[in-house]
Amino acid sequence: MKTFVIATLALLGSTAIHAADVDQNLIKQGEYLARAGDCVACHTAKGGKPFAGGLPMETPIGTIYSTNITPDKTGLGDYSFEDFDQAVRHGVAKNGSTLYPAMPYPSYARVNQADMQALYAYFMHGVEPVAQENKVSDIPWPLSMRWPLMGWRWLFAPKVEDYQATSADPVIDRGAYLVEGLGHCGACHTPRALTMQEKSLSAADGSEFLAGSAPLEGWIAKSLRGDHKDGLGSWSEEQLVQFLKTGRSDRSAVFGGMSDVVTHSMQYMSDADLTAIARYLK
Ligand code: HEC
Ligand code: HEC
Repeated sequence: MKTFVIATLALLGSTAIHAADVDQNLIKQGEYLARAGDCVACHTAKGGKPFAGGLPMETPIGTIYSTNITPDKTGLGDYSFEDFDQAVRHGVAKNGSTLYPAMPYPSYARVNQADMQALYAYFMHGVEPVAQENKVSDIPWPLSMRWPLMGWRWLFAPKVEDYQATSADPVIDRGAYLVEGLGHCGACHTPRALTMQEKSLSAADGSEFLAGSAPLEGWIAKSLRGDHKDGLGSWSEEQLVQFLKTGRSDRSAVFGGMSDVVTHSMQYMSDADLTAIARYLK
């Protein structure tokens, strides 16, 4: 009996420690994925606390503000995993209204379920809670009504489903997963239609994917397609990795929106993931 109790206690003890381990790893993984998604760039105001929101973003109809995504009750404090998932992959806020597509949920729809769990663990347990109420948009009524956004979402947001391998090379698939999904590279590098949706959301979807944008805050995000004369045709894989990691290569130095991407996101990616992105783009 005594040995049984000790054995049971030992077993309980070891599973408890094990569970804590897994959690920490999940949080770490979520932190890495949050970098890949560059959540901090949009969800932090100039001089503000990380992830507390309030960054103004211009849209064709007025200014909206990114929201507080820290685990405080003014942020995501009472979000269940489903609420979080609905917002990030489906573009639906906890109160049921549709988010402005300034939040790149049409790209995040590609993120798989396991990575969503890790992101949720990070935002609930790895991010410092900050009490800061969200700002309402400066968009005048009636344009501020959110129901037309619901129509937009029905028309243009892709189905949420786990990324399906499309290439025989797992490195290229990993690259595609990151570029089309968390990296949301297309949000800036794919031309948009008049109704503001990206003309295509993946390589499978059309030749306009990553074909270069209209001017963005005065910069033009160039074509990232290997087949474009003005795209990345003449870059080597090494030059691309170097550029994404440091913002510099012997070809180009970053400016405009891309410097944020390098500073907050790409420089933290593992060499394996940067190589995957570069090989996929090539
Ligand atoms: C390009 C800018 C941008 C990026 C990158 C971005 N967001 Fe957002 N996000 C926004 C904006 C703007 C809103 C508010 C949209 C609205 O009010 O309709 C928002 C809203 C949200 C919401 C809904 C919050 C609420 O109050 O209901 C969540 C959750 C969220 N973002 C999580 C994330 C996560 C996690 C990431 C990274 C994986 C991320 N966002 C990356 C711009 C961005
Ligand atoms: C916030 C908008 C934005 C996002 C998101 C973005 N980019 Fe960019 N990118 C730009 C802009 C603007 C430029 C052009 C300015 C420059 O060359 O520095 C650029 C330039 C580049 C260049 C250099 C092209 C050249 O010919 O000089 C590469 C390579 C690149 N981006 C790759 C990526 C990848 C890969 C991703 C996704 C992980 C990405 N970008 C996401 C805005 C963005």
